[in-house]
Amino acid sequence: MKTTSIVKVSKAEKSKLEQIDFDNLVFGKTFTDHMFVCDYKDGKWQTPEILPYQALTIEPSAKVFHYGQAVFEGMKAYKDEAGKVWLFRPEENFQRINKSSKRLNIPEFEEDFFFEGLNELLKLDKDWIRSGQEAGNALYIRPFVIATQPGVMASPATEYKFMIICCPVQAYYTKDVRVKIADYYSRAANGGFGAAKAAGNYAGQFYPTKLVQEEGFDQVIWTDDTSHEYLEEAGTMNIFFRVNDKLITCPTSDRILDGVTRKSVIAMAEKLGIEVEVRKVTVKEIIEAAENGSLKESFGSGTAAVISPIGTIGYKDKTYDLVKPEDCYSAQIKKGILDIQYNAAEDPFGWRY
Ligand code: COI
Repeated sequence: MKTTSIVKVSKAEKSKLEQIDFDNLVFGKTFTDHMFVCDYKDGKWQTPEILPYQALTIEPSAKVFHYGQAVFEGMKAYKDEAGKVWLFRPEENFQRINKSSKRLNIPEFEEDFFFEGLNELLKLDKDWIRSGQEAGNALYIRPFVIATQPGVMASPATEYKFMIICCPVQAYYTKDVRVKIADYYSRAANGGFGAAKAAGNYAGQFYPTKLVQEEGFDQVIWTDDTSHEYLEEAGTMNIFFRVNDKLITCPTSDRILDGVTRKSVIAMAEKLGIEVEVRKVTVKEIIEAAENGSLKESFGSGTAAVISPIGTIGYKDKTYDLVKPEDCYSAQIKKGILDIQYNAAEDPFGWRY
């Protein structure tokens, strides 16, 4: 066992790397050789450790199983053509996981444990990261926190596990996404925890998403919970609309995730000279724009999805197909962001780490 300044490291005896078919990865199914673990007990985070990736032993009464006290993050590491490994705006993910934790009454994590853990983990598992911007090759990094204290009393736990696991991935969506606008179910409410990256926010989407998948769509575009008149976000993505030459997205709120890719899209679009409007977006205006041809494109943004063009929007019993224009904004913005992520261009924003 090796001890770095903060993190205790136990290396896997044998790597699983040679068993992996990197050209046929299913998103989120294959995990690297190591994982980061840090327990919270007696009122503080204990010594963080890196261990071989393995199953956990947790009591069936652990609060995470009963009350869903769990939050997570999604990040990616990229390898450039020279073999150097880069993270994208990791301090944003660190701040957001603590913001999510706070909302679920989970103790906030230590910044040096997070960054030191991430560095050590990536040093050990760097061979799992493949270069290849075109294919979307990257290492998806999943930090998460779960309440491990045994006992089914409905109160916040006093024991937690903060963990980081990693999986090699390629593009999340390989074709344009078909989305349906919600007119009954909702994802989040004012004063709720929709802005937190909480496990339950995703579980609550599975059933309505299954219903739209039965109609041939991929995801739901969520609308506000009271009137269903305002467009908010798609299942795993923030959402953008181009009406004529303007790019429009709704502001973040209690109900909407403050996406790292979302804010990067806004900054990149402005740098490319695209006019961006952050304001409430109504279902009515987008349907009208789809009908009169002024809705030129729409796309979702997220760490997993990067920038995923939307090919079809469904609303009630109608569908609207979008044909990408030649000066496609989503392609330009995606290239701008990917070039920074893969160290293929200057980074005027200071996003690379
Ligand atoms: C991400 O983009 O990192 C997400 O959190 C989406 C995930 C649920 C697959």
